[in-house]
Amino acid sequence: MTRTPVSVTVTGAAGQIGYALLFRIASGHLLGADVPVKLRLLEIPQAVKAAEGTAMELDDCAFPLLSGIDIFDDATKAFEGANVALLVGARPRTKGMERGDLLEANGGIFRPQGEAINAGAADDIKVLVVGNPANTNALIAQQHAPDVPAERFTAMTRLDHNRALAQLSKKAGVSVSDIKKMTIWGNHSATQYPDLFHAEIGGKSAAEVVGDQQWLENDFIPTVAKRGAAIIEARGASSAASAASAAIDHVHTWVNGTAEGDWTSMAVVSDGSYGVPEGLISSFPVTTKDGEWEIVQGLEIDDFSRGRIDASVQELAEERDAVRKLGLI
Ligand code: NAD
Ligand code: LMR
Repeated sequence: MTRTPVSVTVTGAAGQIGYALLFRIASGHLLGADVPVKLRLLEIPQAVKAAEGTAMELDDCAFPLLSGIDIFDDATKAFEGANVALLVGARPRTKGMERGDLLEANGGIFRPQGEAINAGAADDIKVLVVGNPANTNALIAQQHAPDVPAERFTAMTRLDHNRALAQLSKKAGVSVSDIKKMTIWGNHSATQYPDLFHAEIGGKSAAEVVGDQQWLENDFIPTVAKRGAAIIEARGASSAASAASAAIDHVHTWVNGTAEGDWTSMAVVSDGSYGVPEGLISSFPVTTKDGEWEIVQGLEIDDFSRGRIDASVQELAEERDAVRKLGLI
C-alpha cells in the first residue's frame, strides 16, 4: 500500500545545518524507512537560489522516499499543510549585537512563522525549534499560534543530551548504548544542567559509577554546557552535522517513542513540574509514546541539582521577560 507522504517544512534550508539535515530527512532517518516525505523549504529571498541548488542535489540522490520538494520565501505558503516543522533558520549574533538585539531580530522571524503555522499547518503539526536562542524562539512562535496545542512546540536540547552521553561514555569506558536516563535541564545555553545523578549505567546512578565529583562539577558539566562555543572555536563555524543529527534524533524519538526504561531530553512547555514556571519552554526528562511526550515525574532533586536547574530556569524567565518587554509575546 502506498502511504501518503508526510510534509516536512525546513526553514534555513540553505544554511549549514540545512545542508546536513535535508539528505537525512529524505533518506528516511527522520520518520522511518517506510515513510515517504515531501520537503517544503523556506529561505529568505537572497538564499532561494542556494536552496534550489540543494534541491538539485536531493533530486540527484534519487531517494525512493522523497516524493517532492517545494521552495518558498513566504512563511505562510511554506507551512501550509506541514505535519512536521523544523525551524532552523535564525539570525546569528553579529559583531556589536547585544542579547536584546538578537532576541528582537529573532522575534521578527519566529512571530510570523508561529502565525503561519497557526494559519495553515496540518492538525497534527509537530514543531522543533533549532535556531538560537532556541527555547525563547520556540516560546515566541508558540505564543503566536493560539489554535495549535502548546505541547506541539518544542526546542532542541538533544544535541546537549548527545554530547553528555559521549563525554560520560568516554569517562566510564562504556558504550553510549549502556547509558540510560540522561537528562538536560533548562536552557540550551551555557547555564544548562546535564544531570548525572539520574542517568544510569547498568542500572546504577552514573554519578556513583564514575565516583568523581570533581570531574562531574569541573569537567563534565562545563564541557557539555560550553561545547557549542568549543566547536565554534575549533571549526570556525557553529556545529552543523551534529546539530542536524540531534534534530533527526529529536523528531524520530518524538514520533516513534522512547525505549522502555529510558527517556530523552526535550525542551517543552512547562506545566509547573520541578518548580519550572508554567509556560516556559524548558528542557526536561521526557518519555514519548504515540507521538506525544510526557515529563518524567517524581525524580528526587538534591540541593546541588536544584541550584543548577533554578539558575538555568531563571535565565529562561529573563529571556521571556525581555521578549515580553519588546512586545514580541
Ligand atoms: P546558517 O547561518 O548557516 O544558516 C541559517 C540559514 O537560515 C541561512 O541560510 C539564512 O538565509 C536562513 N534564514 C535566516 N532568516 C530566515 C527566515 N526568516 N526564514 C527562513 N530562513 C531564514 O546557520 P546554521 O549553522 O545552519 O545554524 C542555524 C541556527 O541553528 C543558528 O541559530 C544556530 O545558532 C542554531 N544552532 C542551534 C543548535 C541547538 O542545539 N539548538 C545547535 C547548533 C546551531
Ligand atoms: C551549539 O550548541 O553548538 C550551538 O547552539 C552553538 C551556537 O551558539 O550556535
